[in-house]
Amino acid sequence: MKPIKRIGIFTSGGDAPGMNAAIRSITRTANYYDLHVYGIFRGFEGMIDGEILRLETTDVSNIIHQGGTILKTARSSRFLEKANRQKAFENLQANDLDAVIAIGGNGTFTGASVFYKEFGFPMIGLPGTIDNDLYGTDFTIGFDTAVNTAIDAVDKIRDTADSHDRLFLIEVMGRHSGYIALYTAIASGASAMLIPEHDENIDQLVDEIKKSLKRKKLFSLVIVAEGNKIGPTHVIAELLKERVKEYEIKMTIIGHIQRGGSPSVADRILSSRLGHAAVEALLKGKQNCMAGIVNDKIVFTDFDQAVQHQKSPDNDLINLADILGR
Ligand code: F6P
Repeated sequence: MKPIKRIGIFTSGGDAPGMNAAIRSITRTANYYDLHVYGIFRGFEGMIDGEILRLETTDVSNIIHQGGTILKTARSSRFLEKANRQKAFENLQANDLDAVIAIGGNGTFTGASVFYKEFGFPMIGLPGTIDNDLYGTDFTIGFDTAVNTAIDAVDKIRDTADSHDRLFLIEVMGRHSGYIALYTAIASGASAMLIPEHDENIDQLVDEIKKSLKRKKLFSLVIVAEGNKIGPTHVIAELLKERVKEYEIKMTIIGHIQRGGSPSVADRILSSRLGHAAVEALLKGKQNCMAGIVNDKIVFTDFDQAVQHQKSPDNDLINLADILGR
């Protein structure tokens, strides 16, 4: 294998708070080992279009606390085409890059795995998504900040829900993943939650709400993941209005606020540890895998495994949310 002297970094998929801290950690660690670092802009899109620029240590100063990603990001449908992947490979070669570190989620690692199989180009991934749905790491970069943002919003909604004795449906992100909803539900003491991993129906939800009414709950918070099995939150609100007359029903969608903002301490530390570990792993010859932290230890999981294994919220935590929210 060619010795690693020049590495590229890109961020891809939905942005996540902590991505900048990871870019900083990779750049500074690489510079420590006398490697040159190149930023690839807009994920796979920038690989295809050759948007690649040298990153110096000073380029990553004063970004550890910034949300978003200085390298921009994109969900690239063009990378699904072989001809575009070929272009991307040629651009990496033209810039004399020896390896790339990709920060992203499921879609990113699916693309990285295909690319590795076609061109054998050394790549390592860092789990960067607010969804926390990647196998091979306890937490993904951005999840902790997103949940803290959601909790901040729910706490404010709680004040008005309590003052008016209302039921609020509060929608959090997660098209395919219930982690944000689960953690938000536990940390806010919500009466109920709806997550994509559970086949809950409207009758069950009404039943839960009626039971909490019997327990004299004067107001109620229901955390709804975007991808829940009943349907869009405004539809659930309409269905509840017909069947639960005891509460005035309101709904709030927290939305993309969850993706922005300054990363939490946990996300800054996670990003810093993973970025550092990824560079050292590349130097030791590791490739085609994602760096993660499991039980506080750095571990590496092949891209294929990270993508194929579905990571779902723990049943014990789901039970906890249920018991404590009563
Ligand atoms: O994957 C992160 C995520 O924020 C999901 O929770 C959400 O369903 C999706 O991205 C939204 O994507 P977009 O910003 O492209 O609409």
